[in-house]
Amino acid sequence: MATDTRIRRIGVLTGGGDCPGLNAVIRAVVKTGIFEFGLEAFGILDGYDGLVRNRMIPLTESDVSGILTVGGTILGSSNTAHPFKYVAQGAGGSEPQDLSDRCVENLRNAGIDVLFCIGGDGTLSIAHDLAAKGIRVVGVPKTIDNDICGTDVTFGFDTAVHIVAEAVDRLHTTAMSHHRAMVLETMGRHAGWLALVGGMAGGGDIILIPEIAYRMERVFEVVEDRARRGKRFSIIVVAEGVRLPGGEYVIRQEVADTHHKMRLGGIGVWMAHEIDAATATESRAVVLGHMQRGGTPTACDRVLATQFGHAALVEAMEGHTDVMVGRKGTRIVPVPLSHVANRQRLVEPDSQIVRAARAVGTSFGDE
Ligand code: F6P
Repeated sequence: MATDTRIRRIGVLTGGGDCPGLNAVIRAVVKTGIFEFGLEAFGILDGYDGLVRNRMIPLTESDVSGILTVGGTILGSSNTAHPFKYVAQGAGGSEPQDLSDRCVENLRNAGIDVLFCIGGDGTLSIAHDLAAKGIRVVGVPKTIDNDICGTDVTFGFDTAVHIVAEAVDRLHTTAMSHHRAMVLETMGRHAGWLALVGGMAGGGDIILIPEIAYRMERVFEVVEDRARRGKRFSIIVVAEGVRLPGGEYVIRQEVADTHHKMRLGGIGVWMAHEIDAATATESRAVVLGHMQRGGTPTACDRVLATQFGHAALVEAMEGHTDVMVGRKGTRIVPVPLSHVANRQRLVEPDSQIVRAARAVGTSFGDE
């Protein structure tokens, strides 16, 4: 007997850390599904946690109306729930269990034909594994870190870059008043995109990213050299994934049983302390933290998220599964999830953007 491959009902979930533009994607997937294809839509609450625990809600046109400009996600998210290694919350040390069959059953019982997984590398890797169990999945790449393979850019990044740039602008005036070196620590995990692009946009004097090895002596030299030339302040933008000179990460917390086992954070405070001790310039650190993920998305992110959501729906209707939508140049294209799962897109140290930054006098602490 032939299987019925028609799509009538879709499910949407948002996984991993939130970022501005998630709601715009949900809106685009649901509205395109309803308006163009007459589908029914369901939202799965709190990412994969809701899939394991069968927590779903119907999504109508009015449910997704008015959310284009709203940050966060109306569905909630979880960056710890993993269907293949699920640890019940509050279980205090219980062994991870493979509950992926339960997820398959929950989707089948709800009559959901395609699952849209909006998330970063962790969420998309899990989506790929669910596809191997026969679930039709389409991924949408989100993250302020901008480190997903198969797409030139992720939504959420542009908004976060604006927040970093604004912080650099604000630090400039206070750094100038007090003749200080201000160190701004950005997020970005192991990728330097956020520090690089936000730092360049704000005119940071030194930008330190995980992809380019730095020397503290060089950082001191740049600060001192600027002071000698009458620029008695410096702005240093450092990505949280930058390691100590000995090669160790600076870790806020270690977390077992999750995709990302280290919560990074602290390199900025360490660096300010070193500059303070080694130079005549007083130094302070600012950790931008989750400010970078909150609030309303920029116009660019709203549009990219809408294009991604629409394209994801179209991919599904064309019968494609186990794919993600990504932007290549000016086009939105399908990318096999196998090219995306468990990989990372990092800054190329010799790329045009790094060369442009160097050309205008930005130091990466290496030369
Ligand atoms: O991946 C997005 C991100 O914001 C990273 O830049 C950061 O390291 C991490 O998530 C923080 O995660 P959490 O919200 O768990 O503190």
